[in-house]
Amino acid sequence: MSTTGLALGCLFFVIASASAQYFELKNVNQLAEAKKFQKIVIRDLQVPSGVTLDLTNLKDGTTVEFAGKVTFGYHEWRGPLVKISGKKLNIYGYDYARFDGEGHRYWKGGRNTKLVKPRFLEAIKVDDSRISNLYFKNSPAMAFLCNWCHNVAISKITVDNKDAGDGRAGRAFNTDGISLGYATNITVRDSYVFNQDDCFVTGGGSDMTIDNLICEGGNGISVGSLGRGADVVRLTIKNSKVINSLTGLNIKTETNAVGLHRDVTFENIELRDIHQYGISIHGNEGPTYPLGDPTYFIIDRLTMRNIRGTMKGPGAANVWIWLHPNSATNWKWENVHVTGGKSAMFKYVLTCKGIPANLKIPCAEK
Ligand SMILES: *[C@@H]1O[C@H](CO)[C@@H](O)[C@H](O)[C@H]1NC(C)=O
Repeated sequence: MSTTGLALGCLFFVIASASAQYFELKNVNQLAEAKKFQKIVIRDLQVPSGVTLDLTNLKDGTTVEFAGKVTFGYHEWRGPLVKISGKKLNIYGYDYARFDGEGHRYWKGGRNTKLVKPRFLEAIKVDDSRISNLYFKNSPAMAFLCNWCHNVAISKITVDNKDAGDGRAGRAFNTDGISLGYATNITVRDSYVFNQDDCFVTGGGSDMTIDNLICEGGNGISVGSLGRGADVVRLTIKNSKVINSLTGLNIKTETNAVGLHRDVTFENIELRDIHQYGISIHGNEGPTYPLGDPTYFIIDRLTMRNIRGTMKGPGAANVWIWLHPNSATNWKWENVHVTGGKSAMFKYVLTCKGIPANLKIPCAEK
């Protein structure tokens, strides 16, 4: 009896320790040791001020599990507060886990602040990986970025800056929600952003699909241009909502930007209570916006399909298009209904140009 009991006990011990092949990070000084493991667990962690929670150069196939609250000491710097790189990673959080940026420490001064504020989490050169269920509370500046990422499935990202109030308060200026730069083959699903800047933004990348994104309080969904030759190619944004935001959908290229947009599709989108522009497509982002001349920039095969929207106040444009006459080629504009805005009451006198001749797009209705 006792021999059997002992044997079973040993067996149990071996199994338990085999399954405990993870490192529980309690202190950022342990990062080098943690990175030797295939799995890193982070429960409650206080990251000292001016230090990045540096999860770069993880071993291929590493799992990082967030299972508590991660907070950061106050420091005026560009961050990021958390940085991740590696291949075949599985990065996820439990439902109760939080990254708390305690953004209120940085928000005072709003748009006019001179504070240098840290970006929150930057995934950089993350390949063939999954990132899911991360909750960012009160981001000091941009919340979630994936730059030079390839083949990454991103889901259930929450950016919760509700404590800053809605966008017109302007407190949490520059708190872009989800941002993809120079990324390829990325999906972003089932995510929610309440912030005071772009909800989703990309300025360059290809094969990106955004599905079921809900945006509230900020500047809406933005396809920009990084200029300097960055292209946005094969981007689809679908089954999404923008609520109580400054702009609904925003396609903006900078004055003198070099690059192109091709095969960008917005499909099945609801815009509700939008303040300034339901859909804005303009080629003069920068110092001369909104009245300066738009620069030539190819926007080829843009599709807008099944888009419903209501504007909040009358001093707004349902749709505003302001492009160089040769910019727009091969557009589709199907079943788009944005209503309630009267641009005559807007603070600038808006007119439209560059709308493809074959499309009847009501624009900047007075
Ligand atoms: C795109 O990324 C997914 C992972 O999200 C991967 O399964 C798929 O094979 C990738 N596609 C290509 C063409 O690399």
